[in-house]
Amino acid sequence: MMSVDRHLWIGTSWKMNKTYAGAMVFAMALRRAEAPPDVAFTRFVVPPFTVLREVAEVLSETGVVVGAQNAHWEDAGAWTGEVSVPMVADCGATLVELGHSERRTHFGETDETVGKKVGAVLRHGLKPLVCVGETRAEKDAGQTAEVLERQVRAALSGAHAGDHVLFAYEPVWAIGEGGEPASPAYAADYHDQIAAMAKDILGTPPPVLYGGSVTAENCTAYLAERAVGGLFIGRAAWQIEGYLDILSRAATLMRENEE
Ligand code: PGA
Repeated sequence: MMSVDRHLWIGTSWKMNKTYAGAMVFAMALRRAEAPPDVAFTRFVVPPFTVLREVAEVLSETGVVVGAQNAHWEDAGAWTGEVSVPMVADCGATLVELGHSERRTHFGETDETVGKKVGAVLRHGLKPLVCVGETRAEKDAGQTAEVLERQVRAALSGAHAGDHVLFAYEPVWAIGEGGEPASPAYAADYHDQIAAMAKDILGTPPPVLYGGSVTAENCTAYLAERAVGGLFIGRAAWQIEGYLDILSRAATLMRENEE
């Protein structure tokens, strides 16, 4: 049963997809779509850097939060190819995704760099969205709780009580083509653990979103779990129709639960 004060975050990262034209099609359609009335959720979109400013401009005054997919821990300097928090803030981003498993796996992102980046994002008054999750091998070895604890503590090494941080629990084996969505009950168990660990540092439990092969068909099963604070969606929301479908199913579920 959901309480009336429950607030969800439902958004999508486009990863390395969409040039300007495709980004505008999505953003303009989202601007035209009414926010579901009376429903407590925040919609968010995380485009590539190359269209961040344009997407943020189109979505200004819609209530949709726009985020960046990464940012460096330093504000400026000799860091070829990197983008800093002041730069993404200047483009209109108010959220920064950090520690996605694709960055950890392919681009050398470590617990330590995630922690430094979270500190930088908070210092500039933006909101970090930290992705954590175990690999298939770690799950099979029974190490999930330990891995999550290490990732959460490291991510919050530069955070303090009262800071606003979002987490996404994204089991690596659940993400992308060939990923197998986690069962809602399995996800909920780890959502509770992540929230409890983070509460030790932040003082209050942060929202923990679920990510990994979310679809229109399975989205409400996750949201029916009280521990799930929202959804972080990839493929199923890259087309605006898919994203709007998930938003409308979530809105229906929340209304039913309030009645
Ligand atoms: P997916 O991606 O929904 O395509 O599995 C999720 C993610 O990587 O956050």
